[in-house]
Amino acid sequence: MTRIVHLSDLHISSAHFLTDVAGCVVQGVNEISPDILVITGDLTQNASHYEYMEAKKWIDRFECKNKVIVPGNHDSRNVGYLLFEDLFGTRSPCCSLDGVTVVGVDSSQPDIDDGHIGREMYGWIAERLNSKLNLDLNSNLKEFDLKVFALHHHLIPVPMTGREEEIPVDSGDVLELLDRCGVDLVLCGHRHVPWVWKLNDMFVVNAGTACSNKIKARTAQCYNLIEIENDRDTRDVSDTQRRIRIYRVLPTGKQTLIVDSIMKKKTENENEVAAGRAHIYA
Ligand SMILES: [Fe+2]
Repeated sequence: MTRIVHLSDLHISSAHFLTDVAGCVVQGVNEISPDILVITGDLTQNASHYEYMEAKKWIDRFECKNKVIVPGNHDSRNVGYLLFEDLFGTRSPCCSLDGVTVVGVDSSQPDIDDGHIGREMYGWIAERLNSKLNLDLNSNLKEFDLKVFALHHHLIPVPMTGREEEIPVDSGDVLELLDRCGVDLVLCGHRHVPWVWKLNDMFVVNAGTACSNKIKARTAQCYNLIEIENDRDTRDVSDTQRRIRIYRVLPTGKQTLIVDSIMKKKTENENEVAAGRAHIYA
């Protein structure tokens, strides 16, 4: 089994960060011992040097070798995206491990809260989500990998978040691209309300804020745990299927099962023509 923990919206700052809650989240995540840790942005509140140094210290406490971290709109304020690169590396990280490939992108723009991926990224994304296009990239992406796309902004409106705003300006085009590329899971944050949509054959999973006081209405701090089982893990699925469970986890460690689904493994041939078409946008 492969486990992904998905955190978002830490908002490390004197005004919003809850250190006691964060300590519980660190302990809980380390007990889960995920194979991959995905953090979908808003590590900081104002992207100051102090906040980034604190964010680095806190994120280093998560004992996971494979971290996929993308910036949020708050991290790109005040030229903070440069500090992000200094401390966490590329703003568009990728990771392939044990049948799972995660492709992350920066959906933020400096000093603008609206999300934006941009046509110039579509070819790059398609290449990294297709094992045949990927041959020259020295990637470990293999055919039948579970494909995960991670970004900060929500691609689909989230209920109980008030007036819709700041959704990526090209969210429709991005959703269509991800669908054509055979993406199984989209992980995002930004709205501070946990939610899961299923669109065609793709789960779009929002995380709440993990450890800030910026919660909405009746929600609470939380994060997501995703478990992926293949046929070698369970007799419940055949070699052409995989089982996905998504849990919402509270800082106390309490887990609630949100999704339990058997999904067909998509062949690259099914996506090949579509991915090739996406390639022309580059
Ligand atoms: Fe946020």
